[in-house]
Amino acid sequence: MKISVIGTGYVGLVTGTCLAETGNEVLCIDINEEKVKQMQEGIVPIYEPHLDVLFERNIKAQRLKFSTSLEEGIEHGDIIFLALPTPEDEDGSADLSYVLGAAKDIGKLIKEYKVIVDKSTVPVGTADKVTEVISKETNVDFDVVSNPEFLREGFAVDDFLKPERIVIGSSSERATALMQKLYKPFVRSGNPIIVMDEKSAELTKYAANSFLATKITFMNEIANFCEKVGADVDMVRRGMGTDSRIGKRFLFPGIGYGGSCFPKDVKALHKSGKDSDYTFDILNSVISVNNTQKTILIPKIESYYNNDINGKIFAVWGLAFKPETDDIREAPSIYVMEKLLAGGAKLNVFDPEAMPNIKRKFGDTLNYANNMYDATKDVDALIICTEWSIFRTPDFNKLKKNMNSPVIFDGRNLYDIHEMKGEGFYYNSIGRVT
Ligand code: UGA
Repeated sequence: MKISVIGTGYVGLVTGTCLAETGNEVLCIDINEEKVKQMQEGIVPIYEPHLDVLFERNIKAQRLKFSTSLEEGIEHGDIIFLALPTPEDEDGSADLSYVLGAAKDIGKLIKEYKVIVDKSTVPVGTADKVTEVISKETNVDFDVVSNPEFLREGFAVDDFLKPERIVIGSSSERATALMQKLYKPFVRSGNPIIVMDEKSAELTKYAANSFLATKITFMNEIANFCEKVGADVDMVRRGMGTDSRIGKRFLFPGIGYGGSCFPKDVKALHKSGKDSDYTFDILNSVISVNNTQKTILIPKIESYYNNDINGKIFAVWGLAFKPETDDIREAPSIYVMEKLLAGGAKLNVFDPEAMPNIKRKFGDTLNYANNMYDATKDVDALIICTEWSIFRTPDFNKLKKNMNSPVIFDGRNLYDIHEMKGEGFYYNSIGRVT
């Protein structure tokens, strides 16, 4: 099939590349000339494991092409994916100007039947709006389909190639048949393609992300309570998670959820509720608990130093919002570091992938270490914000030699509390009291 993808952000790029992998002719469109030039030369503009291999293979096979011309994109694809940003507006709602702007251009340029697919996370009712905008510009036949994506950063290629389910929101049989044909190779294992109306598909994405954010937030509150009563959240988590109705995943407490999806989507669903005269009380709490959780380490650190961290030197390990990505959007590390800097502390930071992004944001207010051990030289404590695998089994003797004192504040519960005591560390984590 001929596919166009408008927007080569993280979703568009993964979608385009993986659809080329099953033999489709994919043309990806982006307005950023520099980026398009780079992609034409085979350079992947984001860090996403395994994407580079597929990228190179499909460019070589001439199944994956790039252009800045929207006209070319609209001409090329039988199916046109809109993978455009929907940034958070000041009031928390999703800004649809990119999506609706592209819809208008499609209306102006469309010459024959096309399926237009909303791949971006968009509020309920957006497919109707896109239809309305295109209809105003043309009499040519077209269908709009909602097809939310459930990719996790760091695992996006795997999630796309082996999805647990595909959700298609469509009220047109013709469009549904085309979408089913497109996705058939990805669900050979028997995972379902669930067809529903457009609004339900749009809401499914928000409901899924908000539920997962709520699940994490619930565990964060349980962890905070564990500290009050002397229980161990690791044990509670294992005890709960083995109940198949609850499930083991997304029960890991820490310093809050971040990234480009959960924070934005929870707020957007909350705002959508308000717009429809419905108050999502539960989401209100999730937003507020997560805001506090992001800096939950700060009072612990301050109390350890008798409320004076001025002049203290800390190592910070992990800056990305989660492992296996260089993405720092809404990363808890940012909030932690801002508070520590405001208190007069000096920070030596290290992350395996996110250093360039953090450098752009923090400039010379931080010391950027070449590796995880260099970051710990002569520091008063180590603070862990992201659970990269490389941090899981450090050489504790080397750490002790490097550091002024053996003190660790761990926002991701990487180590066993008893082992840490044995190693001679003061070790403060989330929901576990030594
Ligand atoms: C999330 C969803 O998991 C995807 O299904 C969805 O497609 C995507 O958003 C999206 O809307 O595009 P992602 O933001 O890449 O994916 O990251 P997750 O792996 O879901 O993690 C989100 C946040 O939750 C991270 O900050 C992570 O540290 C935190 N988290 C996750 C926890 O604090 N505890 C857990 O047990 C799990």
